[in-house]
Amino acid sequence: MSLSGAMDISSGLSKYDDRSGVDMDINDSIKALEGLSLAEKKSSSSSSSSPFNGSRRRRSRRLKNKSSSASSSNKPTKKRRMGVSKKSKSVKAKDGVRKVGSTLKKRISGLELKLKSPAKRLSNMLGLVCKDPVYCIALGKYNEYLKDYFMDYKELGLVDNNYITTLGGPSANGFVLRLPFMRPGAGFTAYTAIKCSLMNKSDNLFYEYHIGKNFINPLCKRFPCFVETYGLYRFRSEKDWDIMADYSANGGIAGGAKKMPPLQYMLEQLDTMAWEKSCVDSKHICILIQYFNNVLSLKHYFAEYEFPRIKSDMFGLMYQIYFPLQILRRVYTHYDLHRDNVLLYKPFGDAKKYIEMNYHLASGRVVQFPTEYVCKIIDYGRNYFSNAGAKMNTKKIIEKYICPASECEPDCGEEAGYSILQGRTYNPYVDFYDIYPDIPNMSHDLRLIDSLRKMEMGAYNSYEKNVYNDKHNDYKVDDFKNFFDDYCRIIYKHEWGTPPIVKNTKQSADAVNLDVAKKPAVKNVADVREMLETHIDGFVENVTRVKYDGWLKAGVMHIYEDGRDYEFVAVD
Ligand SMILES: Nc1ncnc2c1ncn2[C@@H]1O[C@H](COP(=O)(O)OP(=O)(O)OP(=O)(O)O)[C@@H](O)[C@H]1O
Ligand SMILES: [Mg+2]
Repeated sequence: MSLSGAMDISSGLSKYDDRSGVDMDINDSIKALEGLSLAEKKSSSSSSSSPFNGSRRRRSRRLKNKSSSASSSNKPTKKRRMGVSKKSKSVKAKDGVRKVGSTLKKRISGLELKLKSPAKRLSNMLGLVCKDPVYCIALGKYNEYLKDYFMDYKELGLVDNNYITTLGGPSANGFVLRLPFMRPGAGFTAYTAIKCSLMNKSDNLFYEYHIGKNFINPLCKRFPCFVETYGLYRFRSEKDWDIMADYSANGGIAGGAKKMPPLQYMLEQLDTMAWEKSCVDSKHICILIQYFNNVLSLKHYFAEYEFPRIKSDMFGLMYQIYFPLQILRRVYTHYDLHRDNVLLYKPFGDAKKYIEMNYHLASGRVVQFPTEYVCKIIDYGRNYFSNAGAKMNTKKIIEKYICPASECEPDCGEEAGYSILQGRTYNPYVDFYDIYPDIPNMSHDLRLIDSLRKMEMGAYNSYEKNVYNDKHNDYKVDDFKNFFDDYCRIIYKHEWGTPPIVKNTKQSADAVNLDVAKKPAVKNVADVREMLETHIDGFVENVTRVKYDGWLKAGVMHIYEDGRDYEFVAVD
């Protein structure tokens, strides 16, 4: 399909008038869903609907919400707020985009009580839909069904030990394994990733679990760039840790490692733990997270022969990252945003297919670009967060729970994975590359965009310059030049950090014609977003769309600044 058939951006908001459905374009799946009964689900307790609240919703509640008809209480409010007509139920929009969400939901709702064997029927449905991972994991909706079918991934007895593989390269912090969950007769496998620590001093994984579960998970519904956290585990003994660490170090079964004992005998599943307990044998804590196949890190694509694959996508890739970071800037800083902590997920593998991204700004503008990659930010262990609804934030955790606990002695959890997170709490003179996770730092996450260069000679002393040069010697676009140097001057003090600068700098549409010294400075995530928005349309028109000309548009994604959940709409 040619790009000339792309959606009309000016009318983007009014075209998609049913915003809450499950998006499928497989009729068989709808039939299979007719077999989905929820009758067996346990009754549930409910919790506040604040996106930032810390409490868990039970599985049955989730399913109930998902399967109840499109007239659930939240939806009309959202429609009214956006001024979108309530009466329209069209399933086929003018541009060939098919949307079947509300129809599907109503059918599920009508049938839910009739059925006798929900697990089997859910399995049928997933078997049909999940042949294509696009519909299951990356695009959000089926993730919930999968989780339910696999009992929230709490039953490690469902993991097939023959196919546990290692993920990522050797790390100073820990190891990550891919766990395949299977159910007899299901006909498909749900993959997850388990992340464990290498030593007590490694970044504390209970903190990463807490922020994932309570802060990031709700955001996964709004922005496709975040990764969901499923569960918390603890090794039952040091011996069990040894077995898994060896398995990982030897490259899993493929690398000649011995098959591990059933995981449920090695790991205890927990829902939470007291903060002070997270300081005891912290290397025994593991977290289970959403897994993506077909992913490579952004760093991987900076190898000389790989860079051409993403060169034309650079504005879109950065927009996927910095649009949410700008929106969240007062309540969230990643603090470890480098090229290895951004994964590029290719939902369609190597097929020449793309998703048309539509970012609906508060101003009414729609930023639109095609992409074969969905960015995924990972590694939340050093993040600052402030969850107003739950009255919780990083500072409070460190000051109220970690520092006073005898289990976390000495020095505010210094030996238990809290050395970075504690920032200046224990020692006010500490200065570790401006990482102060007790406060947000709007400038720190520029580390990623600042690293899209080989090196910036003048900014470093010779020692740092050599270290930097060694670390970035795989970036071959133009030595010494940042990819965005034509458009702005990115100000970043050091390779690993920079102090917060809150004041914004006005960006210029004419920046490419200005001398280097006169190009607008980019000093924080708000500047990055403005810089990208100033130039993205021209870049997309002249560069990105040239790459995707002749590719097939496989889906349309809508992401909203106003707080609504994102949507994926499959294209016929
Ligand atoms: N959800 C995921 N899906 C697929 N692969 C993943 C996922 N999470 C992590 N990985 C792989 O595992 C690697 C390490 O993950 P992560 O960065 O979270 O751990 P880490 O111990 O902090 O690593 P490091 O210290 O090297 O940054 C990633 O670079 C990636 O290759
Ligand atoms: Mg990492």
